[in-house]
Amino acid sequence: MSDTGAAIAVEGLRKRYGDVQAVDGVTFEVGRGEFYGILGPNGAGKTTTLELVEGLREPDEGTARLLGRPSWPRDPALLARIGVQLQTSAFFDKLTAREQIRTFAALYGVPAARADAMLGTVGLTDKAHVRDDKLSGGQAQRLSLACALVHDPELVFLDEPTTGLDPQARRNLWDLLREINAAGRTIVLTTHYLDEAELLCDRVAIMDAGRVLRVGAPAALIRELGVATLEDVFLRLTGREYRG
Ligand SMILES: Nc1ncnc2c1ncn2[C@@H]1O[C@H](COP(=O)(O)OP(=O)(O)O)[C@@H](O)[C@H]1O
Ligand SMILES: [Mg+2]
Repeated sequence: MSDTGAAIAVEGLRKRYGDVQAVDGVTFEVGRGEFYGILGPNGAGKTTTLELVEGLREPDEGTARLLGRPSWPRDPALLARIGVQLQTSAFFDKLTAREQIRTFAALYGVPAARADAMLGTVGLTDKAHVRDDKLSGGQAQRLSLACALVHDPELVFLDEPTTGLDPQARRNLWDLLREINAAGRTIVLTTHYLDEAELLCDRVAIMDAGRVLRVGAPAALIRELGVATLEDVFLRLTGREYRG
């Protein structure tokens, strides 16, 4: 039960759905306090990889260790230390924004005041009394993020957190994620926006067809391959134009 070393250690993960090998032998490590991105086009296997790492899905093969502990089979002690951005469909039925986040907070033994403060952090105080099915897409996205962060987890997992947000909301979310990371939390996000990854992430894993093609700091990858952008890096690695 070592609690030192990497925040996340992933080794040889594989997952198949019918004929589709969604994740095909994925290995990587994330250091404590790192801001780590999993990049790749639609269908690359980002979401499946994240779900395997989080312990939400059982791998066919391979292991993921979070804070030194295996994430599968599910470990309640670990769940309290990680935050997973839930999809909007995972909200409790017919609750207001404040009731949603207070419910999540209660599950973790977090005081209601902290839940209300978190609602403010994501700019939803004025929507506290709005039911979840009446929130806009961006508001629901921010509420799901607030729910994932309410217990101040050491590891934060976000699956395409800025998809569907307008440019201002995107920038606000980037600022919030930078603050959380600066406060020492480890962040792993998936994105198909390469500009976002370049801006936020210390290191990225570039995925395609279920495999990690390359890992590195965005600037280092660009320099190593002698190109101008992460799109160019993708083109060099796959021989295909990047289409998010
Ligand atoms: N529940 C599922 N059942 C069958 N196929 C799936 C399922 N989830 C994902 N896939 C397939 O697995 C591959 C990887 O998907 P996914 O992990 O969602 O990639 P990404 O998040 O990068 O878009 C895709 O070909 C996708 O169609
Ligand atoms: Mg996905």
